[in-house]
Amino acid sequence: MLEELATLERQGLEELRHVGDSMDPARALESLESWRLRFVGKQGLLTSLLRGLGKLPVGERPVAGQAANQVKGRLEAALSQRQRDLSTLAMEQALVADTVDITLPGREPVLGHQHPLTLALDDMLKAFSTLGFRAVEGPEVEWDYYNFEALNIPADHPARDMWDTFWITDEMLLRTHTSPMQVRTLETTPPPLRVVIPGRCHRYEAVDATHESTFFQLEGLMVDEQCTLADLKGTLTEFVRQLFGNERRTRFRCDYFPFVEPGAEMSMDCFACGGSGCRLCKQTGWIEILGAGMVHPGVLRRVGLDAERYRGFAFGMGIDRVAMLKYNLNDLRHFYQNDVRLLRQFTFPVPAAETWSGRKPA
Ligand code: FA5
Repeated sequence: MLEELATLERQGLEELRHVGDSMDPARALESLESWRLRFVGKQGLLTSLLRGLGKLPVGERPVAGQAANQVKGRLEAALSQRQRDLSTLAMEQALVADTVDITLPGREPVLGHQHPLTLALDDMLKAFSTLGFRAVEGPEVEWDYYNFEALNIPADHPARDMWDTFWITDEMLLRTHTSPMQVRTLETTPPPLRVVIPGRCHRYEAVDATHESTFFQLEGLMVDEQCTLADLKGTLTEFVRQLFGNERRTRFRCDYFPFVEPGAEMSMDCFACGGSGCRLCKQTGWIEILGAGMVHPGVLRRVGLDAERYRGFAFGMGIDRVAMLKYNLNDLRHFYQNDVRLLRQFTFPVPAAETWSGRKPA
């Protein structure tokens, strides 16, 4: 029995030395477990040897039992040592594989920047703030009442066809213009008042180079006791001067909107053809940027204002169109396609504190 134990110990230690040879250390650790089961596990060689203990003469049993325990202890100690060695080796190899070359140059962080529409809007708001207008915002999902009814466009009015509408329910819609904010502002703010309202609008529209189904408008509203069409023209002319300089030509023409009287539209000369006519301006030489007019007395009366005492002007301009003209972009769909080759051209620095999105409330 003692000899058999000695042979088992020798064999075990010999095999243990080679467990995991030519294997990666992580797999070698798994092989160690097989070794343990084979030699010192419950069903292992040592256990089956000890089963023969009972057949020994009674006097020899204690010595053999003690020897067996010592062999078990040594085999287990050797196993633990081998486990430690292999773990250390596994760790060293992982460290070598994960080595970082700290001499490599760092990756330059890609800094985000503002979208051209935000940049244009920022300039527009700055221009209007110099003229005493403060900026407010309003809901994109709007009641029929504010989008149409309160603007002199009842349900059966043919002017509703001017705005192809995405309806949410019979009474709610995605606003087709920012003009509903004229009414909301008048309901809550006593005149004299001067506000501009930027915001997203939606129309079920055939999309082309100057029309999107989602686009942005900037509404303007001034109401006071002394307010004339000359103020409207002066305000818009000064706006164009601030944004585009003195050279740019503008054109006012009569237009019809049920919530103004008289109504007008303003266009700017087409940058693509210089005014001679091209595909972009539909051969007219002009690109329409806004609708405007003197606030209709019916709108004033509906919000409880004395239409004899107060007058106002309003305008609604396409922010996308102004941005197209400002950045000489021949298709406003570019603003919504997120093509980085276009967007990267607008990486000029903008001080965060002065931007529209970072602007502190008034
Ligand atoms: C209106 O939306 C009126 N609410 C404007 C108004 C306000 C008139 C206040 C009187 C008083 P209009 O549908 O023309 O009007 O749109 C105004 C401007 O929004 C257009 O001149 C154009 O610059 C822009 N716009 C209109 N539809 C689109 C579109 N589908 N895509 C891009 N811009 C558009």
